[in-house]
Amino acid sequence: MTHIVLIGFMGSGKSTLASTLSLTFTLPIFSTDAVIENLNQMRIAKIFEIYGECFFRSQESKIFAQIQKLSKPHIIDCGGGFGIYQDVNSLGEVVFLDVEFDVIYSRLSILKNHNRPLFDHNVKKLFYSRLEIYRAKADVILKTDQEVLEWITSNQRA
Ligand code: S3P
Repeated sequence: MTHIVLIGFMGSGKSTLASTLSLTFTLPIFSTDAVIENLNQMRIAKIFEIYGECFFRSQESKIFAQIQKLSKPHIIDCGGGFGIYQDVNSLGEVVFLDVEFDVIYSRLSILKNHNRPLFDHNVKKLFYSRLEIYRAKADVILKTDQEVLEWITSNQRA
């Protein structure tokens, strides 16, 4: 099954793009974080706090198996680590939202959203440790907001 798989760091705009693509292509969204929250009836931050990151990653593997069983194409909105640890290339066309660290940092800093347990003093290190992995997995790299728009427009015409 070929899905559109959005990968990238926290705050890179995956959910926003997922909504736009969903409207453009009339495809449902599968958000890995939302499905994990539903499954556990708990916010991501609480899952990390109570059960820890290893448990969260095991939930992501469970969700990966669910995605493999989907019978219709979806926009897959991957949590930041999902694109790193899971074999996203086997799911479909992988789109990496390549946004500069400084942009991400200021976006996350102004968001009054405390549901991002890995946004801490190690976030810069985490960002750079993942960057090349995201790039290596990408079929499409969207580098700026402008390119995002151009890519959407060209796919609307296709
Ligand atoms: C994570 C990113 C988060 C969420 C969890 C772990 C990560 O998703 O899955 O907090 O490992 O980068 P977003 O990228 O949607 O913030």
